[in-house]
Amino acid sequence: MTQKIDVLLTNIGQLLTMESEGIRKGSEMKAIEVIENAALGISDGKVVYAGKMEEAKDFKADRTIDCEGGLVTPGLVDPHTHLVFGGSREHELALKQQGVPYLEILKRGGGILSTVEATRNATAEELSEKASFHLDRMISYGITTVEAKSGYGLDRETELKQLRVAKKLNEQHPIDIVSTFLGAHAIPTTHKEEPDRFLAEMVDLLDEVKEEGLAEFVDIFTETGVFTVEQSRRYLQKAKDKGFGLKIHADEIDPLGGTELAGELGAASADHLVGASDKGIKKLAESGTIASILPGTTFYLGKDTYARAREMIEAGAAVTLATDFNPGSSPTENLQFIMSLAALRLKMAPEEIWNAVTVNAAHAIGRGEEAGQLAVGRNADVVIWDAPNYLYIPYHYGVNHVNTVIKKGKVVFE
Ligand code: NIG
Ligand code: FE
Repeated sequence: MTQKIDVLLTNIGQLLTMESEGIRKGSEMKAIEVIENAALGISDGKVVYAGKMEEAKDFKADRTIDCEGGLVTPGLVDPHTHLVFGGSREHELALKQQGVPYLEILKRGGGILSTVEATRNATAEELSEKASFHLDRMISYGITTVEAKSGYGLDRETELKQLRVAKKLNEQHPIDIVSTFLGAHAIPTTHKEEPDRFLAEMVDLLDEVKEEGLAEFVDIFTETGVFTVEQSRRYLQKAKDKGFGLKIHADEIDPLGGTELAGELGAASADHLVGASDKGIKKLAESGTIASILPGTTFYLGKDTYARAREMIEAGAAVTLATDFNPGSSPTENLQFIMSLAALRLKMAPEEIWNAVTVNAAHAIGRGEEAGQLAVGRNADVVIWDAPNYLYIPYHYGVNHVNTVIKKGKVVFE
């Protein structure tokens, strides 16, 4: 009996459904289900069939797409970006070449603070247009769900402006955006000697952010010269009490103990983790806080030492990967390049990498039940790749392998 559906993908060489009951931790990250000679059926924006091609004969689709023996996967999820900002920072590249450290540039009033200046001076329309350009590029690279942080305002008006831009883009743009309030991203020059007063102002903003539905998560930059572990603990505890999920920019440059703090507070993710201690890694494995590793940032900051992904996975932690897209420490939307870095620098296996950018990435931003998998009933967020198999994406580096992107059943890039 024929069944009418909207879209049928045929002739799929390898279909990764990434079906998983929950977060994939430790050795579970090696699990991957590959269906060869597969088909994928889509109706009303949802997956209605994911299986062998010969069992899909009864479908009659409005549109059939021949995948020509290529790879098909869930849309990628990027769980850590600083999407909305004004200006750019290409002039910092020369400082980097001269060996001026990232935190030194910040100390001189540059870095994050120069983007704060540009973001305060931009109108919401300008920010939206710019962010929309980056979102289009993300989609073209196969990203169908993205997290977006504020944090280039450091004052009420601009933080709200950034978050409202992201909220509107989530409604207007095909990509799904999950927002994080990162008001505690740096200490503004006006509060240089009074970080606690600044944090109190950010806490005061949280109710407004909640009422307007502007963010699901609260994040803080726990780092030398920015916020201490103690300040971060007090701040995040207040955010938790108000019902926000938590994230931490933890142990990115100096090993302060943000990783342990993330585990202690039950954060959804601890991000960066280059300097995470053995104790911190153990805490992640025990707590279920996802280790969010951003090797593009380590690469771009010119560091030789990367986060200890292998030890984290072997300890039993769940790892995800993200671009950390931002104008200073990681100006790229290319999550495929991050997948290559994960293979080459973090020594993650291809299967672990695919779990990291789908299942675990979705869980890290509270979308574990919707995104990152192609099981029947889930959103049909799909990438058709110009690649013969899943090993190929981390292997052939630096270029875009996407052929077609489908978001909730609609072709949004081809
Ligand atoms: O994740 N480290 C703090 N925040 C960003 C960088 C932001 C910037 O340099 O503009 C990061 O690396
Ligand atoms: Fe970041």
